[in-house]
Amino acid sequence: MSEPLLDIRRLKKYFPIKSGLLNRTVGQVKAVDDISITIRPGETFGLVGESGSGKSTVGRTAIRLTDKTEGEVAFKGVDLYALPPQELRKLRPKLQLIFQDPYSSLNPRVRVGDAIGEALLEHGLASKDEVRDRVLDVLSLCGLSSYHIDRFPHEFSGGQRQRIGIARALVLNPELIVADEPVSALDVSIQAQIINLFRRLQETNGLTYLFISHDLSVVEHLCSRVGVMYLGSMAETASRDDLFREPLHPYTKALLSAVPIPIPKLKRERIVLKGDIPNPANPPSGCKFHTRCPFAVARCAEERPEFRHVGGERYVACHLV
Ligand SMILES: Nc1ncnc2c1ncn2[C@@H]1O[C@H](COP(=O)(O)OP(=O)(O)OP(=O)(O)O)[C@@H](O)[C@H]1O
Ligand SMILES: [Mg+2]
Repeated sequence: MSEPLLDIRRLKKYFPIKSGLLNRTVGQVKAVDDISITIRPGETFGLVGESGSGKSTVGRTAIRLTDKTEGEVAFKGVDLYALPPQELRKLRPKLQLIFQDPYSSLNPRVRVGDAIGEALLEHGLASKDEVRDRVLDVLSLCGLSSYHIDRFPHEFSGGQRQRIGIARALVLNPELIVADEPVSALDVSIQAQIINLFRRLQETNGLTYLFISHDLSVVEHLCSRVGVMYLGSMAETASRDDLFREPLHPYTKALLSAVPIPIPKLKRERIVLKGDIPNPANPPSGCKFHTRCPFAVARCAEERPEFRHVGGERYVACHLV
């Protein structure tokens, strides 16, 4: 087994809840609450879970785009949170984020070619003369045309803008890309094109992805391993095949049973969850999922289950497994 490219250990990220005239901290949103993930070079690790489960917060803390509360993140053995600012800056190009709406990050008055090239100059990765060629290369890699280089962001379709977002990350020659719902805003045929692009880039550029999505069919298509998050905690991680063939955690079962599209390998058992996801500022005692779990027993309300290895590539946090 190869060394992990990214090793996330017992990561926590709490957001303070402020209230009153004095703006005092009255509580904490436990957005990420003790999560461990290892991602190997060249793999695509999928992160799924309901809205608000903490996926984006994991993605951002995994590449130190925000501070952590506790835990460690190592990129190729280097503790990201221990790096001094100038060292982190040098590493930045290697760790890129692509998100759902790249349009919001594009300056409407800056031509796309300049938008893609500016980071190259900023990081000193190319000289002024080289930039145009580098940008043309990456546009072509992302399935855009050379004439797009002088266009403005509003002149592109949603799918093309997503390609621009990918090109912007890719031009820096990254090793790890955190892709946060990168295809969720696109229609299905464009989704397929972008997903194929992600795949192709993985083969040609040896990229590693942390791929965040609530769309299980996309995750099944693209990812080699999958982690299922619930309310800031990891319920289960497994290889894609194991997870989709036989989900073990009741929450994973419920998520998969709600997928409308056919997943042929999946043994189906329809589970409908009661109620909404609880408030992460005040999570349920014991197993956070026990308030919605159809199989919960007394112990589940009392004791937090450990996230433990149950064979192969599978880890599960459940008293009943
Ligand atoms: N900057 C912030 N300040 C306070 N709370 C935050 C902040 N960012 C996220 N949260 C809270 O952390 C929790 C997890 O949010 P996060 O965006 O990581 O969820 P998510 O799984 O990505 O959801 P979605 O699928 O809707 O994108 C939520 O309860 C959210 O309200
Ligand atoms: Mg999110």
